[in-house]
Amino acid sequence: MKRCRFCGKTAEVSLRYANMRLCRDHFIEYIEKRVLKTIEQYKMIRPNERVVAAVSGGKDSVSLLHILAKLREKLRFDLVPLHIDLGISVDDFSKRALEAFRENCKELDIDGIVISLKDEYGFTIDNVASRSVRRRLRRPPCSVCGTIKRYLFNKAGVELNADRVATGHNLTDEAIFLLQNLIDMNLDALLRYDPVLPSVPDVGLISKIKPLFQIYEFELELYAKFRDLKIVSGACPYRAGSTLSEMKKILDELENLRPGVSIVVVRNFLKKLKPALESKYGEQIKREVPLRRCSICNMATPLDICAFCKIRDVVLSEMRGNAAKDVSRAHQ
Ligand code: AMP
Ligand code: FES
Ligand code: ZN
Ligand code: ZN
Repeated sequence: MKRCRFCGKTAEVSLRYANMRLCRDHFIEYIEKRVLKTIEQYKMIRPNERVVAAVSGGKDSVSLLHILAKLREKLRFDLVPLHIDLGISVDDFSKRALEAFRENCKELDIDGIVISLKDEYGFTIDNVASRSVRRRLRRPPCSVCGTIKRYLFNKAGVELNADRVATGHNLTDEAIFLLQNLIDMNLDALLRYDPVLPSVPDVGLISKIKPLFQIYEFELELYAKFRDLKIVSGACPYRAGSTLSEMKKILDELENLRPGVSIVVVRNFLKKLKPALESKYGEQIKREVPLRRCSICNMATPLDICAFCKIRDVVLSEMRGNAAKDVSRAHQ
């Protein structure tokens, strides 16, 4: 029988990339230690900082919230959980996500902040996914939703006087992102990639951190399961995801052939390729996108009007147009 490397109890996890077997308790401890090491090594959080944890209700960000809650005394930081209610009614997705968020905050006895897209900005992701809006934006709803979430994380960070916004992106997400952009040779995206993005106080940009970027997706699944965390099941109903799931399959096969390949891709990119790219193209990129403030909402943007305000304008105008059509139909 296979035994835990640390205590000799029956092992429940076998980590091929580390050539190690662990029992439940030692696996939980091992993950938390690795996140602590990541935060320290990449200087993600300094003492007395305020960290907003963006929590969707999924396994990654719920695990992130619980791990940060455990680390906050040792690292001496203030933790503020944040959830965006996106208003996705398909399968009650947003309702279930909000419930999971609230339950986790209650369990940890921390006050969480909820921002409702509908209440604050007058529209939902269901509206973004309507046929007329899709036609005008020419982007899949999940990608538009990504832009909206990034904007709201930053805005909430500014309003909460935070120093960092932490998200639950995991190693598998990050390796796929880098491989995809290497295939496309998207130098712009590669140069911007960093698990720690600094703040730009002049234009109100908060530092973004990814404390789980060295933890595999399967490890977070096990972590959430072993700790019996309350998470929302199922993926976002608007996620088309075929390329993503294809890339995941390919990465899984690569991991089978060469355990640890995702770690190698991400680490080597940061240590070797990125500095080389920066020395050749870094200045050029910096010059191309000076940030300023959006003339509508005052948040950071390289353009006169930010992407969020443009999206909002399109969605609200389509909603008004559709409402007017309904009224005229009712009068016919
Ligand atoms: P995704 O864009 O769905 O891959 O999510 C990436 C990260 O963004 C998650 O790990 C969370 O930290 C954060 N996130 C996604 N959706 C939400 C949400 N509705 N509210 C708060 N944070 C979210
Ligand atoms: Fe927001 Fe898919 S539409 S996560
Ligand atoms: Zn053990
Ligand atoms: Zn704006």
